[in-house]
Amino acid sequence: MRKAVIPAAGLGTRFLPATKAMPKEMLPVVDKPAIQYVVEEAVRAGLTDIVMITGRNKRALEDHFDREPFLEQTLAANGDHVKLASVRESSTLADLHYLRQGDPKGLGHAVLRAKAHVGNEPFAVLLGDDLIDEQDGILTEMARVQDLTGGSVVALMEVEPDQIGAYGCADVHPGSVDGALSIRGLVEKPEPAQAPSNLAVIGRYVLHPRVFDVLEQTPPGRGGEIQLTDALQSLAVSEGEGSGVYGVIFRGRRFDTGDKLSYIKAVMTLALEREDTGPGLRHWLDEVMAPVA
Ligand code: G1P
Repeated sequence: MRKAVIPAAGLGTRFLPATKAMPKEMLPVVDKPAIQYVVEEAVRAGLTDIVMITGRNKRALEDHFDREPFLEQTLAANGDHVKLASVRESSTLADLHYLRQGDPKGLGHAVLRAKAHVGNEPFAVLLGDDLIDEQDGILTEMARVQDLTGGSVVALMEVEPDQIGAYGCADVHPGSVDGALSIRGLVEKPEPAQAPSNLAVIGRYVLHPRVFDVLEQTPPGRGGEIQLTDALQSLAVSEGEGSGVYGVIFRGRRFDTGDKLSYIKAVMTLALEREDTGPGLRHWLDEVMAPVA
């Protein structure tokens, strides 16, 4: 597997007014935009051919992953090699391609836009809002399962039952197949009382290219949008090449940087772990959290 699709066309309304003139994917997590963590995760899994599905007001994404000669010259002239390396890094990470979604018809529609670029090979989808711990390597495990089963694979996370309505939800067969759960049904954002489980689909997928043909036939679903979850539901119950959907349970850390509180937790967690910011932040937290005498 070589290719990854990163849908990044969402409007980011949960972060207005910050996202009025800036893509939500560019919000910094300490000193790197959230989207760079996602691109780095793809690259660590060996996926260096990346297509981003963007839209209006997303030019900053292309600029971020491009060279910036004037800034580079200035930093080089000042002998600031550390900053120079950090500026160059994002432009050398991967072979990035950009496609505009056009009509905002949902995640399934965004993924379908990548059909011609991906062609007839398995590929990964990484949602830009989901930040996943770098030690986890879940995509590599999902690619292994895809290779063994020939189907499609989603990452699943156990959530509190009252949270399941914010996610795609998986109904799984008991037992496991090649180290993964076999999925018999998927439902997008169910009412918690009707949810078949507390297993939430998180923003990592390894898909068989047959999903494109299914997406072309998938009518608008929840919210009037073409849902990737609905296409995967069809694949889960179909037969023949590329059918079957499997789940790999993710037990690591995940932050939804599209949600305000979770975004703040992501910034704090990563800042606490870094040598340059950790000690100072911990000291300050101790001060503000100390009970008033
Ligand atoms: C999307 C998917 C949903 C999935 C979620 C993970 O929803 O449609 O199935 O559980 O991402 O973050 P969104 O959060 O874009 O509404």
